Amino acid sequence: MNAVHRIDHVREFIAQVRAQKKTVGLVPTMGALHAGHVSLIQAARQKCGYVVVSIFVNPTQFGPNEDFDRYPRPLENDLELCGKYGADLIFNPMPAQMYPSEQLTWITVEKLTAALCGASRPSHFQGVATVCTKLFNIIQPDYAFFGQKDAQQAAIIKKMIADLNMPLQIEVCPTVREDDGLAISSRNQYLTAEQRDEAPIIYTALRQAAQLIQQGETNPQTITVKMRKVLDRALLIEPEYIEFVDTDTIQPLDVLKGRVLVAIAAKLGSTRLIDNIIVDAKE
Ligand code: PAF
Repeated sequence: MNAVHRIDHVREFIAQVRAQKKTVGLVPTMGALHAGHVSLIQAARQKCGYVVVSIFVNPTQFGPNEDFDRYPRPLENDLELCGKYGADLIFNPMPAQMYPSEQLTWITVEKLTAALCGASRPSHFQGVATVCTKLFNIIQPDYAFFGQKDAQQAAIIKKMIADLNMPLQIEVCPTVREDDGLAISSRNQYLTAEQRDEAPIIYTALRQAAQLIQQGETNPQTITVKMRKVLDRALLIEPEYIEFVDTDTIQPLDVLKGRVLVAIAAKLGSTRLIDNIIVDAKE
């Protein structure tokens, strides 16, 4: 495994790999790697001849009062995990490498960014779409791997590559969970022991929604009331949103039909967690 910081060095490695006609898979990450990232690296390993993991805590996707400064950066551990699971190249640039001068060009995916996390994090997805475009241009992968936990992010990136004719495919891999159901996230480590005990209730509420939809409930309000009752059992969880949207367009659904994305964001103290479940509504 090789680790590089500079864009010209990445390009040299990729040129060699292309000469060998290998397919290139990219796992874009912000580091603090966990079992969810490992599943993405494994999926990339299965599908591609050459696997690149980018590790970059992207400043442009954090709002002014968000956790950019305290975001965990355990680089040694990250490199060890990448090596263990068979990554070929780590791209770990400094911010000045990715943003050498004032960034005046931004990727904005309309409509899909309005609901869910876009409502409270207005410039977040512009930062994500822009840094992913940069990474795609630098690494030129055939495939890029994203987690279902960030369902809105995955939908936005898919729409961006379709709209801009970017020559790669997006693979979305299932959410990896702790034994008690909590979706694995780099931000789980911010939780106190008491918050961590309550956090799995988020998934309990999502499972209840899935069950109701599968039983034929089509009214999102009815389900929301029941989900709130479940979440109310947790004293430390403050729901930010409970939404029912179309999986691809991320537009809110008044009546549940087709493939429904049920998504929750909740605050536990100053830590914000998100989770979701996809359910096929009864025809
Ligand atoms: O999901 C993430 O970790 C980030 O949003 C990504 C895709 C690496 C872009 O910085």
